[in-house]
Amino acid sequence: MRIFITIMGLAACSSGAGKTDARADGPSSIPAPLSAVSLASEDIEHGKALFLSQNCIICHNTTGAKKIGPGLKGVTQRRSLKWIQRILIDPETMERDDAIAKELALAHPERRPEHGVEQTWMLPALLAYLKSID
Ligand code: HEC
Repeated sequence: MRIFITIMGLAACSSGAGKTDARADGPSSIPAPLSAVSLASEDIEHGKALFLSQNCIICHNTTGAKKIGPGLKGVTQRRSLKWIQRILIDPETMERDDAIAKELALAHPERRPEHGVEQTWMLPALLAYLKSID
């Protein structure tokens, strides 16, 4: 038990004060190309179609209710735009290097995220759709 507490203490120290913003955006080694979310109805419609065809719907509800992964309603409010892009592009690295993603993985142990979202054409539409359900 004492060893456990010591390790937890070290982990808390090494995460460092003043890095909170960087952590909330996720590791900068993962790309996050978008600086704004489209509100165009064609992007929202495209994102809605992708949400079905890319199997997001198998693991996620568009309400707040947990499925295999978290319910996605409100996600564009509770996470930064960069963070969302990064978990869509590279959830494995996020799970390893990002504190929020680590917690989510612990809370959703049933399956690992199957994201692998292609940056140039899927990302803008999926973000437009996620924003529209918030
Ligand atoms: C095989 C199941 C699975 C599929 C398919 C999947 N996800 Fe996920 N997703 C997860 C899990 C599990 C998490 C929680 C993070 C973790 O475990 O690392 C997650 C996390 C997320 C998050 C962050 C949620 C939060 O509360 O911060 C978003 C956004 C997201 N997924 C969107 C998508 C989108 C969009 C798709 C389709 C392109 C998709 N997911 C497909 C399982 C899945």
